[in-house]
Amino acid sequence: MKDLFDKVKANMGPLGMHAKEAHHYYTFPKLSGEIGPRMEFRGKTLLNWSLNNYLGLANNPEVRAVDADAAAKYGMGYPMGARMMSGNTDFHEQFEREIAAFVSKEDALLVNFGYQAMVSAIDALVDRHDVIVYDSESHACIIDGVRLHMGKRFVFPHNDIANCEKQLERATKLVEETGGAILVITEGVFGMRGDQGKLKEIVELKKKFKFRLLVDDAHGLGTMGKTGAGTGEEQGVQDEIDVYFGTFAKSFAGVGGFLASDKAIIDYFRYNMRSQIYAKALPMPMVIGALKRLDMMRKHPELKEKLWTIVNALQGGLTEAGFNIGDTSSPVTPVYLNGTIPEATNLIYDLRENYGVFCSMVVYPVIPKGMIILRLIPTAVHTLEDVTFTIDAFKAIRTKLTSGEYQTESILAV
Ligand SMILES: Cc1ncc(COP(=O)(O)O)c(C=O)c1O
Repeated sequence: MKDLFDKVKANMGPLGMHAKEAHHYYTFPKLSGEIGPRMEFRGKTLLNWSLNNYLGLANNPEVRAVDADAAAKYGMGYPMGARMMSGNTDFHEQFEREIAAFVSKEDALLVNFGYQAMVSAIDALVDRHDVIVYDSESHACIIDGVRLHMGKRFVFPHNDIANCEKQLERATKLVEETGGAILVITEGVFGMRGDQGKLKEIVELKKKFKFRLLVDDAHGLGTMGKTGAGTGEEQGVQDEIDVYFGTFAKSFAGVGGFLASDKAIIDYFRYNMRSQIYAKALPMPMVIGALKRLDMMRKHPELKEKLWTIVNALQGGLTEAGFNIGDTSSPVTPVYLNGTIPEATNLIYDLRENYGVFCSMVVYPVIPKGMIILRLIPTAVHTLEDVTFTIDAFKAIRTKLTSGEYQTESILAV
């Protein structure tokens, strides 16, 4: 009989298997200094494109002052307890009213972490008679929510609406037998490729099928739509999104998130979402800080405009220079290259050590073998000079990659 610890030590998992060589360099790197486009990495200042700090709010002086005042006044412990028992406050409820208005929904529920809230919202909404239809490239929090589901789930290939329709036909047949209902789940902006979920087309299917639509708009909130209310606003279908999910992990530069929907549905979540009922309420500085961030979004549309100036310059410049950035239509900027994992690690090492540019790298098993994605996240606090500098660096490393210069043994973290 195996010892459980021996078993896991022998197989650290698809990402963990590289931990020994990659830790603190490719994985778990430590960026220090003020949050922004220039941060310290192993003693060097690098131009940083790896933070989802889209609007630059993480280090905005006004935002930081509000965070600090709230922490000084309340500490990080306040309120003690879960919302339902002893942890509710006027500030929590004020935020819920204000964010609901911002995303044009009747009501909203604050949640402690986006990930656990998504898992738990799915769990609360469906029972074993219901069917979930979801996009194959959904974020892990959606996949985990679906894994909890006791009934059937049908997946459609990423953004394949014809197939989504097929899955809805299957689902409809099934729920006619079980007496259940259908939940469709997709994302506003897909965080790896930057393409948008086909919300408009999915909403169109409501004319043929009966279902409710849950949208994870982690990357769309604050970046997409005229007012920054997200991808539903961008595509003109916000009213048809039945449950809208946003996290503070990106534009809001914080921790926590929210679900927004009809009042009756939010009340249902308040009393049925296990991850919130049985967990401590979001600390006061996060809530007061979130109110300030929302205020900044409403009062300073120039932050989103500046973000898009940088996005357009970066994506336009990369395309002009012949880079493949796929079908992104959001700030998320993937650069697709071909190469092995050792080539990818050597290239990233060169980019950081000799060109002073820091970005995230995605390789197999997250994407197919032989592909490398360098993922850039432009923000409102980058400059056009940063863009030019980065495109020049990318041109240089592409020349080296195609001439085989990175085909040496992998330079791994020292
Ligand atoms: C698409 C998407 N959904 C959900 C989450 C999880 O949100 P949180 O970080 O608030 O747990 C993330 C990552 O932050 C994400 O990218």
